Amino acid sequence: RQAITVPKLQTMRDAGEKIAMLTCYDASFASLLDRAGVDVLLIGDSLGNVLQGQTTTLPVSLDDIAYHTACVARAQPRALIAADLPFGTYGTPAEAFASSVKLMRAGAQMVKLEGGEWLADTVRFLVERSVPVCAHVGLTPQSVHAFGGFKVQGKTEAGANQLMRDALAMQNAGAQMVLMEAVPTLVATDVTKQLRVPTIGIGAGLECSGQVLVLHDMLGIFPGKRPRFVKDFMQGQPSIFAAVEAYVRAVKDGSFPGPEHTF
Ligand code: KIV
Ligand code: NA
Repeated sequence: RQAITVPKLQTMRDAGEKIAMLTCYDASFASLLDRAGVDVLLIGDSLGNVLQGQTTTLPVSLDDIAYHTACVARAQPRALIAADLPFGTYGTPAEAFASSVKLMRAGAQMVKLEGGEWLADTVRFLVERSVPVCAHVGLTPQSVHAFGGFKVQGKTEAGANQLMRDALAMQNAGAQMVLMEAVPTLVATDVTKQLRVPTIGIGAGLECSGQVLVLHDMLGIFPGKRPRFVKDFMQGQPSIFAAVEAYVRAVKDGSFPGPEHTF
């Protein structure tokens, strides 16, 4: 099968083909997820929660993400490899670039950062220097202490307007993809219609250009609290491979997420 590239994600979005993304942190899962048809493998800072047992993503280091990115890259997947810039590693454009270089040298083809309007200069700085960027807006878990908890974002009219401004600012700064977490379906749908780049949803409704879940959540093996947007795809499946295939199918045919997974 053909390799998934950043331009290919745009082609998929333009053709109305849904993008199936999952988090992935090691070579064995990278190989399995790739064979099951996942388009994008994200080395998410959720590894702080699901691998390290932390209660937030804040303690995750750049070395942690680089290590797991290198593990995933050794599987040589056809899927695109995207990696999170952890908390505190993109405080200035120059720092963001140095951090991104480290992740790209480890095998990342795109970096993801959490931010909106205020991060536009940083995103432009990266994109101009050939670092493909996915911008994560809405519930940005690195902001947990600023938010006062993990809360749905964009619920008020002012919040919805801010989310739209953030998404547009990220696109206009050159971000090639925008990921929205835990925002009302109506707001995420509006953003997806306004943007020309692909949108990826997690708790953001069915109208996004693609979906993402944390691997350990969709396999039902994370012992912590399960957010509303999670579906356990192991239910009724004989193997992990079959569960991942079921996820890819459900994303591609629009049967996931259902109304019970959205806000
Ligand atoms: O770290 C992560 O897994 C993420 C996804 C939830 C989008 O950022
Ligand atoms: Na993340």
